[in-house]
Amino acid sequence: MGCFCCFSSNESNVDRRRNGSRRSAQPPAYPPRNDHNNMAPQPENCKPRPRPESNDNKDARDHKEAANGSSNVIAAQTFTFRELAMATKNFRRECLIGEGGFGRVYKGKLDKGGQVVAVKQLDRNGLQGNREFIVEVLMLSLLHHQNLVNLVGYCADGDQRLLVYEYMPKGSLEDHLLDLTPEQKPLDWFSRMKIALGAAKGLEYLHDKATPPVIYRDLKSSNILLDKFFNAKLSDFGLAKLGPVGEKLHVSSRVMGTYGYCAPEYQITGQITVKSDVYSFGVVFLELITGKRVIDTTRQNNEQNLVAWVTNLTLLSSS
Ligand SMILES: Nc1ncnc2c1ncn2[C@@H]1O[C@H](COP(=O)(O)OP(=O)(O)OP(=O)(O)O)[C@@H](O)[C@H]1O
Ligand SMILES: [Mg+2]
Repeated sequence: MGCFCCFSSNESNVDRRRNGSRRSAQPPAYPPRNDHNNMAPQPENCKPRPRPESNDNKDARDHKEAANGSSNVIAAQTFTFRELAMATKNFRRECLIGEGGFGRVYKGKLDKGGQVVAVKQLDRNGLQGNREFIVEVLMLSLLHHQNLVNLVGYCADGDQRLLVYEYMPKGSLEDHLLDLTPEQKPLDWFSRMKIALGAAKGLEYLHDKATPPVIYRDLKSSNILLDKFFNAKLSDFGLAKLGPVGEKLHVSSRVMGTYGYCAPEYQITGQITVKSDVYSFGVVFLELITGKRVIDTTRQNNEQNLVAWVTNLTLLSSS
């Protein structure tokens, strides 16, 4: 195995991420829209509101059936745990490039072929589990587009669950947009708009070109990955759902996603449509043009929720 450098500068990103989990299984209910002034920002890990059990357990099966019926399936490679341990120098800390709700992400280099990859290791004590792993593998085996991250393969040796993706050298949009260190240069406007366009094209593919349509459910700045030219690719399809077919306009599901990015009507009703993703896109777009995180409890009260803040400003300026 050849030698390659791992980004020690990403260490701070990893530490930053540990300070707060961003995806709650069931985000708190969104207050009514006309109540923005009173909107008390809620910590992301606050107790979820109980929701009726739904069809979510069927997801993996539905996706598998969809995959079986498709001629566009590109089988992801299977890896042994040993191969991925070798690729990441035994999951050495210097290869750690990120950490989310699923587990840790390492930069690695495959022995066979020498491809540089990102290896995501499911945290076996984590909240997000096997179901998301299966949905991710099936979805990314079915869906192929220049604005979706490419799944190179996976490992399901024993109780190990790892996903192997193409390595995205610029990390996530979050890394370049939010909580910048004084040394980091803010993204220029052209790159911001290029990223928005790439993310929109990825969504358009999921909603209008994939059959059946796919509702992504997890659009946020940390899930928009960037190549060296700042081309955007959507990642993390563990929460994705097959969208409605025929006359139906929505599918019902347990509320999943990340607080702040989740469409209010989805949080209230549990009914999800492709428009829920469009709402999340709007939130990311707001983050892109303001450089501010959607939820930030370090800001003063009426500014903690970016959407509410901007809505109030708009109302004020139009009255
Ligand atoms: N394919 C990849 N190439 C390069 N870096 C990646 C890749 N995938 C993930 N990362 C890095 O790892 C970080 C963590 O990603 P991960 O998807 O595990 O968590 P998250 O999106 O931050 O949170 P959550 O689990 O709540 O979705 C990303 O923000 C990014 O910096
Ligand atoms: Mg992610």
